[in-house]
Amino acid sequence: MIKIAILASGSGSNAENIAHYFSDDKNVKITYILSNKRDAFVLERAKKLGINSQVFSNKEMKEQVDLLNLLKVEADFIILAGFLLKVPENIIEAFPNKIINIHPALLPNYGGKGMYGMHVHNAIKENKETETGITIHFVNENYDEGAIIYQAKTEVLPEDTAEDIAKKVHQLEYEHFPRVIKETIYK
Ligand code: GRF
Repeated sequence: MIKIAILASGSGSNAENIAHYFSDDKNVKITYILSNKRDAFVLERAKKLGINSQVFSNKEMKEQVDLLNLLKVEADFIILAGFLLKVPENIIEAFPNKIINIHPALLPNYGGKGMYGMHVHNAIKENKETETGITIHFVNENYDEGAIIYQAKTEVLPEDTAEDIAKKVHQLEYEHFPRVIKETIYK
């Protein structure tokens, strides 16, 4: 049995998509959905899906001990699905090449500090990019710099708004993220 914990800070549509994808896989269990935000919609989704959830404050995340202990027991892999905090170093050290993040752009472009959510799509629009996409990568100590596992592209049209771009990117995420997780954890 491969155990997966998902960390998410927001809506959690990717977390839900991943949970559905693995729901009939007897070898994989989503053990926990963890969030740093008490009011994150992902926690509602966890309840509906019947998946354990827990909230860690930013301070608790930094102190690491409880979270690390929980993850050591409950997770073989950690999936970051719209998780906005930096993962504490102890956790990164305890899970080498076992933490997978999705970034809503084609890294190394549009990555790094402050580049998350709509900030990314607004920047794509402002810079009149003709394409964007997703990057699925391992997490290391440096934000958005871990080894890339998979990228997929989508076209950006001149008339696309930042919201249109976000929608296109989300579609790519739903289509590819669960499959890439599966391929990575079964390796
Ligand atoms: C996704 O676009 C993901 O790439 C980014 O945050 C967004 C999360 O969306 N890191 P959701 O919470 O899964 O709906």
